[in-house]
Amino acid sequence: MRVSVLFTALVLVGRVLGAPVLELASSQRESTSISRHAADAEVAEENLDGVERAVAKGPFAGDATYYSPGLGACGRKNKSSDLIVAVSKNMYDSYPGATANPNTNPICGKKLKASYKGKSVSLTVVDRCPGCSPDDLDMTETAFGLLAPPPEGRIKVEWSWE
Ligand SMILES: *[C@@H]1O[C@H](CO)[C@@H](O)[C@H](O)[C@H]1NC(C)=O
Repeated sequence: MRVSVLFTALVLVGRVLGAPVLELASSQRESTSISRHAADAEVAEENLDGVERAVAKGPFAGDATYYSPGLGACGRKNKSSDLIVAVSKNMYDSYPGATANPNTNPICGKKLKASYKGKSVSLTVVDRCPGCSPDDLDMTETAFGLLAPPPEGRIKVEWSWE
């Protein structure tokens, strides 16, 4: 829990100081904001199960959706044709090594494999999804399309870290 305690402390300090760190984080979110990437007031929301969940290999079961990526929380700019994914804020913020600077989160660049009805796709984590439940994934349309027709919009996937 030291990571989340530290993170919370940094966030509190940030609030007192006018939150430059959080502004950085929220401007990144704005640039990726579509559907579930919209407004997220509580960057520091605690999730005590998070670390255990994040270090487990999986499999995890959650909803998959898609969004138009831009500059993600990892500080990389990606396109709808890239095989990238945003994991939930819980997963992202509680990942071992996470700090108040989302760009340096060790989760960035990690690969996971998501499966649906016998199809699977390997995706690179580049972003944080504030509107996602803990085990949900928000991916690009191209990635989603490798699992199901995009008009389905939301599907139940299983996924594991690679
Ligand atoms: C995401 O964008 C970065 C550049 O910002 C690029 O290096 C990387 O290859 C892209 N990821 C994927 C999986 O396409």
